[in-house]
Amino acid sequence: MVTLDGKVVLITGGARGQGAAEAELVAAMGARVVIGDLLEAEGVELAGVLNARHGTGTAHFAGLDVRSEESWQRIVADALARYGRLDGLVNNAGIARPGTILDTAPSLWDELMDVNARGSFLGIRAVAPAMIEQGGGAIVNIGSAVALAGYHAVAYGVSKWAVRGLTKAAALEFAASGIRVNAVHPGVVDTPMVAANPRQRDAVTAVTPAGRPAVPADIAQVVIFLLSDGASYLTGADIPVDGGFSSGAAALQIARATGVL
Ligand SMILES: NC(=O)c1ccc[n+]([C@@H]2O[C@H](COP(=O)([O-])OP(=O)(O)OC[C@H]3O[C@@H](n4cnc5c(N)ncnc54)[C@H](O)[C@@H]3O)[C@@H](O)[C@H]2O)c1
Repeated sequence: MVTLDGKVVLITGGARGQGAAEAELVAAMGARVVIGDLLEAEGVELAGVLNARHGTGTAHFAGLDVRSEESWQRIVADALARYGRLDGLVNNAGIARPGTILDTAPSLWDELMDVNARGSFLGIRAVAPAMIEQGGGAIVNIGSAVALAGYHAVAYGVSKWAVRGLTKAAALEFAASGIRVNAVHPGVVDTPMVAANPRQRDAVTAVTPAGRPAVPADIAQVVIFLLSDGASYLTGADIPVDGGFSSGAAALQIARATGVL
């Protein structure tokens, strides 16, 4: 049975979208949750809802900018002071920007790498010492199905390839310390990120075998499993949660064009 009873989990970008769904499910599974985000109003409101639903002390919002090492040190110290342990980290915070290689200014490249790749790296550096000391933990990095192939929004795609590399490096480094590190690669998910680009949402949905975008809970349920002891021998994995998108979107189009499907 999958349970997070007694665990403490920190979720970055936890104030809205997939991170908020993960926070809701983590709390529902019996854990206490630290919601780290730039969005204070949304984060405080969500923590209030979870405390009302599951009991005072279940959830706590703390300001976090994943680009800042100092910000990471503050949130981890605060979580340890408040709860005495840290069992899980979900590196979920991320930003998306369009741009081909010729259209991407180096500053945009740096912005994407800073949040999506370096932010996850800093997160692992910040939580690992406490997890090692307590004898283990679980880290889930949110990548993207676009990092399982090439992608035209180059800085976004490459930043998510970096998340894959980071996941495997961390899995190797920390396995002997009982820390598991896995990557979840969502396909198109209905969140504010995608609402900003409806043409993209519809185009990806059209080549997704499941025939619909994910809802945030579709992703959160897999994240919860990876955080749980049910995933005790699973580390270093790339797990697409994409309605079949990475199974062959091109083949699906060919099958449709030739009348096979
Ligand atoms: N929505 C999709 O279709 C989709 C697909 C694949 C992967 N993803 C990835 O899933 C993750 C969650 O995205 P979402 O869809 O929920 O988008 P979202 O924009 O709704 O949520 C992202 C969250 O990250 C936070 N954030 C951004 N920069 C931050 C920073 N510097 N420090 C702290 N928090 C920061 C935002 O404030 C926001 O709450 C991201 O890593 C994203 O790249 C999304």
